[in-house]
This record gives sequence, C-alpha cells and structure tokens, in this order.
Amino acid sequence: MKKKYKQDTYLVRGGLQRSNFKETSEALFLNSGFVYDSAEQAEAIFKGEQTGFQYTRYANPTIEMFEQRLALLDGSEACFATSSGMSAVFGSMMCQLKTGDHVVSASALFGSCRYILKEILPKFGIEVSFIDGKNINEWKKNIKKNTKIFFFESPSNPCLEIIDIKQVCSIAKKNKITTIVDNIFASPILQQPVKFGADVIVYSGTKHIDGQGRAMGGAVCSSKKFKEDILKPFLRHTGPCISPFNAWVLLKSLETIKIRVYAQSESALQIAKELEKQKKVEKVYYPFLKSFPQYTLAKKQQSKGGTMVAFKIKGKQKEAFKFINKLKLFDVSNNLGDTKSLVTHPTTTTHKVLGEEDRLSLGITSNLVRLSVGLEDISDLKEDILQALKS
Ligand SMILES: Cc1ncc(COP(=O)(O)O)c(C=O)c1O
Repeated sequence: MKKKYKQDTYLVRGGLQRSNFKETSEALFLNSGFVYDSAEQAEAIFKGEQTGFQYTRYANPTIEMFEQRLALLDGSEACFATSSGMSAVFGSMMCQLKTGDHVVSASALFGSCRYILKEILPKFGIEVSFIDGKNINEWKKNIKKNTKIFFFESPSNPCLEIIDIKQVCSIAKKNKITTIVDNIFASPILQQPVKFGADVIVYSGTKHIDGQGRAMGGAVCSSKKFKEDILKPFLRHTGPCISPFNAWVLLKSLETIKIRVYAQSESALQIAKELEKQKKVEKVYYPFLKSFPQYTLAKKQQSKGGTMVAFKIKGKQKEAFKFINKLKLFDVSNNLGDTKSLVTHPTTTTHKVLGEEDRLSLGITSNLVRLSVGLEDISDLKEDILQALKS
C-alpha cells in the first residue's frame, strides 16, 4: 500500500496481497515449501538476484501479510513474525549480543523475560544490570563501555509500571545502545514506542493481537536495516518461525484489535475506579487512575490506560485465592488481553520463577491479583467483582 492511509484502514487492508484467485479475505498459504520453474531460478532466488519465496521458515505470503499489517500499525518500517512472544523477546536480544556484552534492563518484568536476562544470558557470558526503570538516572548510571541493549516493558507485568520511553531512548541513542521495548501490555493500538525513539518493539500475538485465546505467535518490529542485517539472519537460521495458520489468525484478528482494545480499556478503567472505592481493597494499579503515581507519563505515552488492572486485596494469599475462586465470570488463567475476562495470581503463576526476594522488591505480594478485562457487559463484570469481594 503506497498511499498514506489512516490507521483504521491499515487494520483491515494493510499488507493485503491477493492471489490469482482474487479472494476477498486474505488467503491462508498453509505450505512449508515453494517450487521453482527451474534449477536456474532456484539458484537466482537463493542468491537474492530474483525475488520469490523459498521456504516458510524464511518467509511465506500469509506470514508476510501479517508482518506488513503489524508494521503499519506499530509505525515501524519492518516486522518479523515469530512463534511466540518469548521467541520475539529472546531473538531480538540474541541476534545482536555476543560474549562480553552488557545489557541494562528494568527489573519490573514478566517472569520469562526476567528468566532470559537473569539465567540464560549470563550463561553466554553476557552481563545484565537490573535497575529501577522508572528512575532515568539509573539508565545513565549503569551504562558501561560494552552496553549494547536497554530493555524494558511499559506498562510492566503485573504492576503496570510506566517507563519514560522518550527519555530512555534518547540516553540510549547518545550512547549507541539499542532500545528494545516490550509493548505487549499496551498493544500497538494504545502505544507506539517507535514514535518515542524505540529501535525494536516486541509483541506477543497471543495477547491483544489474537485476543480470542486461539493462537500462539509473536513479532519483532524494527527498522528495515535492523531486520535485514541483524534480525533476519538470526531468526531464519535458528528457526522460531510462526506457523502460517497462526499468522493468518493473527492477521485477521488485527482487523478488530482497535475495537476490542478500546472497549476493553474503557471497562478496565471503570473496574479500576470501582475497586478504588472498596474497603476490602488495599491498593489499585491502573495507569489512567489519577492516584497512579505515573498518571501524567501514562497519559503522555498511551491513548488509553489498557485492558489490565492489578490490585492488592486486604489480607494475604488466602484472601486473594478466596476472591479469585469466588469470581464467576472471570476465568482463572494466566493469559491476558483476551475478550474473556481473566484473573491471575502472579505470585504463584506468572511470576513464580522470580523467587520471593525479587518478587517482593517489585511489589508482587501474595495479596496481589491481576485482572485482564474482557468484552463482557461492564455491569456484569462489576457485579461479579463486588460479589466476590463481599464473600
Ligand atoms: C510482558 C510480556 N512479555 C512477553 C510475554 C510472552 O509472550 P508469549 O506468551 O506469547 O510467549 C508475556 C506473556 O504473558 C508478557 O506478559
């Protein structure tokens, strides 16, 4: 698509490539390989002298449509789709790191992101400094000669910590450091980190992109140069490719992502406000609540507060479990961004891998509950929460 269209148009038509059959909806090319007219043509395509698909681990028409649509939405020049959000996170780092390098990362991370940085990278001789990402001076202070990457989630999982993307990226640029932003909680609908100077943006397709609990997938968005020179060689040869079927599900889901994420975010705000009024609630975390410490920054970076709400119930794990078990509409599940409302106990699930000391330092206490607000009627959701709190 050459002309500059508005976002809603790209959501439905971005990346669309029709086959000779002129299908209305995007076709699903559920094939692993491609054939060539001759040995000479195969050679020319492998040499890069002719364009053409070679193998689905490298590229595939359905996957390419998904990548192009997501890149248009995210505002990045290019995108590479992956098998999951975690392969996107890992690939975006490993494609550019080597033994002796150093990474600075915010401490407030999803359990598996933290595991990669704390347990896996050091095994390859890569040093990682964990900092309070909210404190801009910490980013500056922790830069070393060998620092290659700044990494953070904003909002973070599960306490929705917000990081000043523009300031962190500006420090990174001055020091020739690549900033990778995990934009999974906000989704490309609510926040476009590339506008604030981010170099690489990672997504889990499983969350808001599919948003209907069906398909695993992920993506790395970046400049064309980063994709072609650094990311693609690593991902093509190590093989965390997405299935064309999953890419097709995610591609079609992008058509409705804005409607879903907007409606879910509206409900999440209402739920956060309702929770703040409750006597049995100790603290509510939601970026668009005036009481949220980073409310002003959140308003600057995000168009809405997001679909996730976290809160501390008065008491301990027992009270948190009791509340979770009493909910009738919210399903107990560790996924998020789904049209079905979900509830999670981070201490015992998504952040179990962190260990108690790390968890407590991030405010992940045993009375913390994480809600992913879905598309059900808001009055039903509020009623469900209130009856569970009451009991
Ligand atoms: C912030 C964050 N990053 C990465 C991931 C990983 O995504 P996936 O489950 O698709 O691998 C998740 C999953 O919950 C997440 O919350």
